[in-house]
Amino acid sequence: MSPVNENRGLDIFSLKGKTVLVTGAAGLIGSEISGTMSVAGAKMVLVDRLSESEILSRFVGSSSSSDAQTLAISTDITDRASVDLMITRSVDRFKKIDVLVHLAAIDAKFDTETPDGADGRFESFPIELWKRSIDVNITGTFNVTQSICNQMLAQGSGNIILTASTYSLVGPNNDLYIPPPPAKPMVKPVDYVATKSFIPSYTRYLATHYAKQGIRVNCIAPHGVENDNPEWFKENFAKMSPMGRMSSASELNGPFIFLASDASSYMTGSTLVVDGGWTAW
Ligand SMILES: NC(=O)c1ccc[n+]([C@@H]2O[C@H](COP(=O)([O-])OP(=O)(O)OC[C@H]3O[C@@H](n4cnc5c(N)ncnc54)[C@H](O)[C@@H]3O)[C@@H](O)[C@H]2O)c1
Repeated sequence: MSPVNENRGLDIFSLKGKTVLVTGAAGLIGSEISGTMSVAGAKMVLVDRLSESEILSRFVGSSSSSDAQTLAISTDITDRASVDLMITRSVDRFKKIDVLVHLAAIDAKFDTETPDGADGRFESFPIELWKRSIDVNITGTFNVTQSICNQMLAQGSGNIILTASTYSLVGPNNDLYIPPPPAKPMVKPVDYVATKSFIPSYTRYLATHYAKQGIRVNCIAPHGVENDNPEWFKENFAKMSPMGRMSSASELNGPFIFLASDASSYMTGSTLVVDGGWTAW
């Protein structure tokens, strides 16, 4: 019988017995995904730069999940020693790490992350913010994946899910960021586009490098996850989106569970696009 025929039934989506480490676990998507993976049966390592009590306060696990199945670790992913310690603590507790979901990143929101008075435009974008995003979004990704790949090689298996963006695939249409007058038009800053563009190719690099060693590597490209956005922004988004709306964080649960589970066992090197059709026209 072919492997495909053996994979019938919804059990293939189960995370029972798996240990999943989520970086950025206290964030908008991380808190949603972590709770869902716990419900799907996973033991959870919740990683963020926030304190361990803050990380745990944002986690809503399954009703049957206990402290024994959850570990919060405060880690700055730009600090390699801190990342290596995070892996050691996870393995001490759960013996192995089956799945990495790497979400931690700086997403320089068009309205909050630029210095006072700046609008994020390329011609005046501060190099300090450029370097900070490279440090977190690129070097942080390198730190986390290199450290975990060594652990997964020692285990003989592993599954890595990185987080890209539609801006890994297409440029921002800055019409999205134009509020009603007299407010000034804004733009999506270049640091985010630059540091997210590398994710799909980095995914393919790791995927092909480790394909014969039992480690799968894929990424997800979400877009427009609703988070108390102003009405004008939601209206602009709706006009530009084929599906005519933003997504809820919970609409990422299925794609993440799919990639984390054995349901995607023949996938590696892929970018799974979850953007309501944004990049389809
Ligand atoms: N929200 C969206 O619409 C959207 C769209 C496309 C892609 N993404 C990507 O999804 C991922 C998660 O996005 P989100 O909206 O949940 O963001 P978020 O800002 O809500 O969460 C990011 C988390 O990462 C943590 N973090 C930041 N720097 C860190 C560091 N140095 N060390 C450890 N933790 C650190 C933050 O504390 C935060 O909890 C990001 O990679 C983002 O680029 C989000």
